[in-house]
Amino acid sequence: MRRILFVCLGNICRSPTAEAVFRQRAGQLGLADKLLIDSAGTGDWHLGKAPDPRAIAAAARRGYDLSELRARQVAAEDFSAFDIIVAMDTQNLQDLQALQPASSSSRIELMLSYGESTQQDVPDPYYGGEAGFERVIDLIEEASDGLLNTLVRELC
Ligand code: 4NP
Repeated sequence: MRRILFVCLGNICRSPTAEAVFRQRAGQLGLADKLLIDSAGTGDWHLGKAPDPRAIAAAARRGYDLSELRARQVAAEDFSAFDIIVAMDTQNLQDLQALQPASSSSRIELMLSYGESTQQDVPDPYYGGEAGFERVIDLIEEASDGLLNTLVRELC
């Protein structure tokens, strides 16, 4: 069993996308029972809200359903409830490292450390156009496969 939390700033664009993409691909590999998957934001502006309509629409065009997800903020308990906390960008990573209690042994990692390019950050699409949301999905699909490859090796 591995418990994985995807984290961005608002939990309405990138991390819910990562949650849905990763969940679907894990299911296709038959790993649904071995993985607990969730997402959260470091910020608190959108608590309880559905993902950004542009993220929902872009994901739907690619076969992912974000519509049932609701935003929540990262909590201290997450650092014991999850084995791996996956940050969408380097600012999220730094914020998570600052929040991590000393007693926590969660692995905090960058999403794109599992991607194929040298790009570090999944760019925040919130203030941009539709193409930014498409790019987010491209990057997240690729990194999800990389993370799943790692987990398959660890679990099997
Ligand atoms: P996310 O995008 O971190 O990918 O969910 C954002 C959503 C909202 C804001 C910033 C980024 N905001 O400033 O409200």
